[in-house]
This record gives sequence, C-alpha cells and structure tokens, in this order.
Amino acid sequence: MPKAELHLHIEGTLEPELAFALAARNGVTLPYATEDELRAAYSFSDLQSFLDLYYALMAVLRTEDDFAELADAYLARARQQGVRHAEIFFDPQAHTARGVPIGTVIGGLSRALEAAPERHGITTRLIMCFLRDESAESALETFEAARPHLDRITAVGLDSAEVGHPPSKFREVYRLAREAGLKCVAHAGEEGPPAYVWEALDILGVDRIDHGVRCLEDEALVARLVADQVPLTVCPLSNVRLRVVDQLADHPLPAMLDAGLLVTVNSDDPAYFGGYVQDNFTALRDALHLDEETQRTLARNSFHASFLDEEVRAAYL
Ligand code: HPA
Ligand code: ZN
Repeated sequence: MPKAELHLHIEGTLEPELAFALAARNGVTLPYATEDELRAAYSFSDLQSFLDLYYALMAVLRTEDDFAELADAYLARARQQGVRHAEIFFDPQAHTARGVPIGTVIGGLSRALEAAPERHGITTRLIMCFLRDESAESALETFEAARPHLDRITAVGLDSAEVGHPPSKFREVYRLAREAGLKCVAHAGEEGPPAYVWEALDILGVDRIDHGVRCLEDEALVARLVADQVPLTVCPLSNVRLRVVDQLADHPLPAMLDAGLLVTVNSDDPAYFGGYVQDNFTALRDALHLDEETQRTLARNSFHASFLDEEVRAAYL
C-alpha cells in the first residue's frame, strides 16, 4: 500500500550494524562491545531513557558521507515498506553540540534526499527540529545558522524531552520560521498534557501535531482538532516502547479515528522501536484488528496531511 511517512527522525534510523561500521570508520568507541549488546540496551522505561541512548549513539555521525549513508539506508528500507514520500526530521543541535557543523549535516542529508526520487522512487521533505530541553536562545541561534540552507528545509519542528518544556517557550523562533515561509509542526501530547497541544496550535501556529495521543483527555481540544482537521502523526510502536500506552491492544488510534481526527501512522525512530512504517501498520492490524478499509484510510490520510504540492498530493488521493 503506497503511503507517506510524516514522523521519522533520521537519527532514529541508525541501525546497530551501521552504528558499529561508522564507529570503526571514525575511530569512535561505543560503550557496547557487540551489536547484540547494544540491542539489549533497547529496553526503555519512558521518553528520557530512550533519548539518553539516542543522543549517545549519534557520536558515530561525523562527516557529510555519514549523514548521506544514514539517510540512504532509511530510504532503501522505507521503499520496501511502501513509502513513496517521506518528511524527515533531523536534530541539528544534537550534532553542532558535538562540533559537527550544521552545513555538514544538511549537506549530507540533502545529498541522499536529492537522489531519492531516482534511486528509491521516494520524494522527500526535510524538517529541522529544535531540542525543547535546550534554551529558546539556542533554538534562535540554530535557526540563524540554518538560514543559508533554508531552500532545503520545508518546515521546523520541536522534539526531545517534552514535560517541562511547553511549546510557548519557542514562540519567537516559530514566528521567524513562519516569516521565512516555512511550515511548522511540533511534538505535543506524547508525554506532555493537552495544554501543550493547545499551545502548539494557538501560539506556534503549527500545521500538524506530532503524536498528540493525549488530546483525547480534553474534549474541547478534540473538537478543535476535528473542526480544523489538524493532522496528528501517530507512532504506535513508539508509544508502546516508550510506555505511552501499555500495549498495542490498548492504543487509542481506533478511538481517535472514531472521533473524526485526521490520524496518520508513522515509525518515529524505527531502529529503536521495533519496526518501520509497514511494521506499524501490520502490528496495528494484528493487535487492533484494523480492517483493509481503515488501513487504506490511514494511508490516504498520510498523503492528505503531507506538505506535497497540491497537484502531486491530489494524484495520491
Ligand atoms: N519524542 C520526542 N523527541 C524525540 C522522539 C520522540 O518520540 N524521537 C526522537 N526524538
Ligand atoms: Zn518523534
């Protein structure tokens, strides 16, 4: 089934094999002796316990070639899972903080993305995320550092540790991004409360909400999201691995669809959460008995919610 993937952190596609290959190439020592030992560490109690490992493993990404190889490996896997269009997050601050220039990151990712239509049959967009547990000033500095590269960036996003870092903290940088003609998205309502989803909508002016599963706790918020048909990029296997839900059979996705929300299915950090996007669809089908028609609706929603040009989008609907 052709689909678009709209919630995918490129750093979250770093598979253990590539991590060890890049570590060897770049002379980086990982705190794990083998790939199996690393995989054994993929047992998370919450978002923060995942983020600790996710940021630590990024130490292996150093050169433009590393970023190009990472993105190309994701695109090859994504195509096997039916992805025809991918809107890809990256976390510049996680790299600049380690001394990797933002131009190296964007240059490497863009090289793979520009080759993707011909090489993999996938169109792409790039979304630059700010780390919400870093300061508002750091986000502003990152945006200014990215200015020379904005022709390669479609949208800004907001990720990392959610609780205690409300969207309102990033009002100014989102204003600048909108002024520069970028689209806006933000993670909200994953571990954080419905109030953060309201802020993302009303203060940041986002076009989509990433995750948003906790919106169901607030009836008025659901009504607003339904009325405006704000897309929610839901990540079921991620929600299980990060203990946002206990098990897939308890996932609120069916309730969200029943409420009339514009839901899409995505993989978030597939190397860490046990599956790419089709694996998420298959797991949902098995745990929640989603029928063919519902799966087709979810796939259609993914194109509808994308930042593709209107004519291209219409061709998928
Ligand atoms: N939530 C917040 N930050 C992230 C995530 C996530 O699911 N994945 C990578 N960074
Ligand atoms: Zn995410």
